[in-house]
Amino acid sequence: MKKYDFLVIGSGIAGLSFALRASKHGSVAVVTKRDAAATNTAWAQGGIACVQSENDSFDEHVADTLDAGAGLCPEDVVRTIISEGPDAIQELVDWGVEFDKKHGDSDEEEVALGREGGHTKRRVLHHKDTTGREIETKLLQEVRDTENIELFEHHFAVDFITTARLGFATPPRCVGIYALDEEEGKVITLQSDRVILCTGGSGRVYLYTTNPDVASGDGVAMAWRAGCEIANMEFIQFHPTCLYHHELKSFLITEAMRGEGAELIDKSGRRFMEEYDPRGSLAPRDIVARAIDREIKKTGEPCVFLDITHKDANFIKDRFPNIYETCLTVDIDITKQPIPVVPAAHYQCGGVNTDVNGATSLPGLWAVGEVACTGLHGANRLASNSLLEGVVVSHRTLKDCLSAIPVGQNVERLDLPPWESGDVTDVDELVVIYHNWDEIRRLMWDYVSIVRTTKRLQRAATRLQNLQSEVQEFYWNFRVSSELLELRNLVEVATLIVDSAARRKESRGLHYTLDHPDKDDESWLVDTILKK
Ligand code: SIN
Repeated sequence: MKKYDFLVIGSGIAGLSFALRASKHGSVAVVTKRDAAATNTAWAQGGIACVQSENDSFDEHVADTLDAGAGLCPEDVVRTIISEGPDAIQELVDWGVEFDKKHGDSDEEEVALGREGGHTKRRVLHHKDTTGREIETKLLQEVRDTENIELFEHHFAVDFITTARLGFATPPRCVGIYALDEEEGKVITLQSDRVILCTGGSGRVYLYTTNPDVASGDGVAMAWRAGCEIANMEFIQFHPTCLYHHELKSFLITEAMRGEGAELIDKSGRRFMEEYDPRGSLAPRDIVARAIDREIKKTGEPCVFLDITHKDANFIKDRFPNIYETCLTVDIDITKQPIPVVPAAHYQCGGVNTDVNGATSLPGLWAVGEVACTGLHGANRLASNSLLEGVVVSHRTLKDCLSAIPVGQNVERLDLPPWESGDVTDVDELVVIYHNWDEIRRLMWDYVSIVRTTKRLQRAATRLQNLQSEVQEFYWNFRVSSELLELRNLVEVATLIVDSAARRKESRGLHYTLDHPDKDDESWLVDTILKK
């Protein structure tokens, strides 16, 4: 058993920024299930939203966030995160992150700001179209160079160890985790009084997603099993523009492209977005994704198109080099032809219920980033607010950890028992795991995606119940593997999404159901909180 002052699970912007700051106060372990750079953060293209220019203000950024959030964002949370943004950006720069610059009116260099859907001002800092990769690379380099941080790559967090799970008669709290060391094939015990969950979201619950393979909802599933409150899981954001191509799946076409003038068109070249919203292609994502879904269903075409060909080719190549090069590999020259796009699952706006300091309902456990629900995103996240939330809230979390349990005054150490694997064998038929995995993702796409109905949700719930008992049986009878653990988490999170969606009898933000197509502020201006 290893003991640390801070135990961080996940290696995206929230986990790494927390670890870097915490290392000044004590020993830190960062546990991550694949290579440390395999995160949702690394795939973020557009950038990080933060007020930076004279003609912008915190009030305007707050107003845009509240507007997108459709009544469910607590204003104090939004204001806190947004107003602490500039200091957090400076910290990223101090860690070596480079944001694009441009020459201003007085020819002095200033930060170049992009615009995305729902933002009334240009306020998105970016690094070309690979902002997340730039942040991930620089933070990871710092982490690898920091002595007080031990990085456990290819270690899969199986479950939290809690006093309740151990049957101790002490007040309930989180005291560590069991983690599968994939190389050694054994489960190890890591103990800490301050466990920080930063495992990102659950896009892989859906058949079509812009997320990397790692996004299987592990953190929410673990927290749920440990008895934490889970909030607003019905609000899954579908990004309107994922590349539609049979060879290249899950490739995002950043919203920043629409911010630079790209227009959504159909096969005949018709700009259809104005028929749905006066803001056209730059309307908030829920509106654009639903409009595309409607167009696809109406016309029977498999996709719509995003057209930026009217812009100068050199500008396109310089501003979106990653998208330009990647599309060329499948013979799409974005400077000359419109890009085929479809909506795909992109971001989980709900998650482990926390306050603005990342504190969960389980003492000793904090959650930060996409895995958590501070309320910032309400019923629909404003583009590029998530990297901001990750880096701002992780700062507040460290302060909260230090004041709740000062380092050096650790809670009395408990003797944690090692993992019991019992009488198990290796999974004999991996095909069953893959089949169940595919089935969950397809049924979630067909029954629980952009447009929902009560009947479809009921169908999904019934099927998931059967899958859950099958998966549980595997879990008890076979040696744990990352495939089995991901499947176990995936079915758990899918069930939480369906359960939350079934409870909300109205349409709001990202939750749209044909059976209750209107917003109902009188009954439903509330978060959906699930408790075991
Ligand atoms: C994008 O680049 O369109 C994604 C940005 C975000 O999801 O915040």
